[in-house]
Formats: sequence, C-alpha cells, structure tokens
Amino acid sequence: MELLLDELKRRRMALINEMPDNSIAILSSANKNFRTRDVENPFRQNSDFLYITGLSEPNLINVIFKNSNNPQTILFRNNTSEKERIWDGSRLDNQDVQKKYGFDNIYNYDNYLDKLVDLLIDKETLVIESGINDELDSFISNNIANASINNRAGESFPTKIVALHSITQKLRMVKSQFEIDLVKKAAEVSIEGHISAMKKAKPGLYEYELDAEIKYVFNKNNMPNAYMSIVGGGNNACTLHYVKNDSKLKKNDLVLIDSAAECDGYASDITRTFPVDGKFTKEQSEIYDLVLSAQEKAISFIKPGITWDELHNLTVKIISEGLIELGIIQDSFANVIKNEMYKDFYMHKTGHWLGLDVHDVGEYENIKFLPGMVITVEPGIYIDQSNINVEKKWRGIGVRIEDDVLVTNNGSEVLTKKLPKNRNDVEKICKNNG
Ligand code: GLY
Ligand code: MN
Ligand code: MN
Repeated sequence: MELLLDELKRRRMALINEMPDNSIAILSSANKNFRTRDVENPFRQNSDFLYITGLSEPNLINVIFKNSNNPQTILFRNNTSEKERIWDGSRLDNQDVQKKYGFDNIYNYDNYLDKLVDLLIDKETLVIESGINDELDSFISNNIANASINNRAGESFPTKIVALHSITQKLRMVKSQFEIDLVKKAAEVSIEGHISAMKKAKPGLYEYELDAEIKYVFNKNNMPNAYMSIVGGGNNACTLHYVKNDSKLKKNDLVLIDSAAECDGYASDITRTFPVDGKFTKEQSEIYDLVLSAQEKAISFIKPGITWDELHNLTVKIISEGLIELGIIQDSFANVIKNEMYKDFYMHKTGHWLGLDVHDVGEYENIKFLPGMVITVEPGIYIDQSNINVEKKWRGIGVRIEDDVLVTNNGSEVLTKKLPKNRNDVEKICKNNG
C-alpha cells in the first residue's frame, strides 16, 4: 500500500516538474463504454489517468496545480449512490480513496465544471488532453479556447494549452521498479498460460480451445488479457493479426500463440510457436532456428544507447542471410536489403515499447534506449501458402518468438526468460501432444 502511495507521489511530482510555472493540469478518467444499449464493455482506464491517479474507475477528474512551492492535487469523485449500491455494489469511500491514493482534496463529481471555472482563475497554462471526455472538451473549447469566461470582470484564465500526453509520454517511457515488477507479475502468469497451452495442444483440437486454456490461467490469477490472443495453426500463423482462432489444429503443423496477461494495468506480450504434435519437421526446424537466432542476437545487442533502427537492422540482416542460405530468397544480400525483399517474409518491426499499453507510449525515431525502458523483441518469418515463388515444402510455415526485455545499466534482462524457446526444450514440453 505504502509502495503504491510513494510511487504515485513520485509520478505526480515528476509531472509537476515538467509543467510550466503557474499551470493547472486537468485529467479525465475514461468513460464507461457500452456494447449495446445498457450492456457495458469491460472498463479500461485511460492509461495516463491510471499512471497519475492509480484509480481504475469512470467519472473522475483529477486536477493538479503547479503553484510556486505548493503543488496541490484535487480529485472530483462521487461516493457510491444508493442506486449504484443496489445495481453495481459499493466502491471505496472518498475518505479512504484520499488516504490510499494521496489527494489533497476530494470534491463531489457533480457540477465539477462549475468548480473548474474557479480553479482556472489566474492560471497561465492549461495542461490537458482532448478526446477522452467530450463534456470536458466542449467546456474547454467554449470557455478557454474561445476565452468567453474571460468576460468575468477582473479575472484571468489560461491563455496557453500544453498537451498532457507530451509530458506523460516522456515520464512513462522509463519504468520504475514498481512498474517493472508489475510487468514481471503479468509475465509470470502469461508464461504459465503458454506452458499450459503447449502441454494441451494436439491434432484435432480447435485453436479456440488452446485460447481457452490460456484464458483460464489468466482468469484464475485474476488477470485479464493484455490484448486479444492470436492462436494460429499452420498457415493461420502467417496472418499477423489473426484473432478468429476458430480452425482445427493439424498434425505436422506449427501453432503460433501470441497471448499475454495484464497485471494492474501493466501488459506483458509473449509469442511462442510450437509443433501441434510435439515434433518440428525439418523445414519448420530450420525456420524456427533462424528466427530464434535473430531474436537471441537482437536481445544480446540491447543496451543503453542502442536505437530501434539499429536493433531492427540487425534482425533484418540475420533473417535475410538465413533466407538466402536456405534458398528461400534467391538473390544477393545487397539486393535483398536494397529492394527490401525480406519484407515478403518479415514484414513487421522487431518490437515496440511495453508498459501500461501493450504498444506503449514512446517515439521510435532517434530515441536511444535508456536503463528502465521495457520493450518487446519479436522477429518472425511468415511463408504464406499462396507464395508460389517459394518451394512448396516451405509454404504454410509462420514463426514468431517474442519476449519482454528490460534495458539495464549494462545490457538487458529478459523478463519472460522462464518460458522455454529452444527447440529441444519446447519439444520436451510438447512431448505428449502427438
Ligand atoms: N501482441 C501484439 C504484439 O505483439 O505487438
Ligand atoms: Mn508485441
Ligand atoms: Mn505479441
């Protein structure tokens, strides 16, 4: 508990340090969203709001002032109403929220807009993100952007707007130990899910049945999926965002599973590819080992100062050389790189930032890795069955291997290292599948 409060205070101070003098930040929670009529989708908090407040509820506004030496945080929140208690159950009391999450004041959420007018007086800059709360957006554009409340005699309102996200993005890119531990917890459960699926797979099972095994492990640990699972048997592995997961798994096929859990908002992101019947064929082995070699070499290359481009160029080089050596691409290395011929088989990037969002905040150009950054490393090779330029024996093989990697002071730490990926180790887990 203390840990959470310390962490939240540290994040708020970091936000305040980046805010201009005499500014006010207004953060809005995500709204409930509905599947149809009054049937709700699962609630997911806006990631910036979660980062700063720690709260995962709709109908909240957080206001943060940068006022000389006396930064202040206010939360607008309603206690549980009687109607809500009957239909949805009780939530924490405002008093307890104030203690647990560390706000200076909590005000009623009803009429928060009226109160906001007063809070904006004499502030120079407003730090805010549009597109999250329509009501707040129109209030700001009617009253601030159009300066109509400036008609209030003798009072001045912010004349500048700074995008909140430009600040939170910078803060969220480097993870604290608190955040790394949550990614690790999510990864541990994800690993258990993957191992369970590897053990259960066999010819004749449907992809959704493996998905169900994984979901069962996540749910039994009280974690949701961090994203929709991909369970692609055979050629389905070549569809990068295959989420139908409704085909039967076949003997002699591989199955690619890209699935991971989320812990207190923090995502992990793991892919493994293994033989449905427990034994890699010769061609599958060759593609698998090539992807694994690219992935492992990329991981050993990671350290502070490296860029995404350098990392990607490395996996492109290894995969291109390998595809030429296997005769899958018949051209010179120079041509393969110049004409991007590898993209017929490796069409996505090596990885992405990972954190509160599975594709987390952060730029990809001209950023050098820093200790505390968390990324995925996920090269792949996809030889679609429709690719008539390739010998038939290779077609229908899709392999991706994805781990979550923390950049450390001297190199990196693989947060998902407990999930085997060497071919022999994978076969051992799958040995009873045939
Ligand atoms: N699971 C999404 C991704 O690997 O990027
Ligand atoms: Mn990924
Ligand atoms: Mn993934």
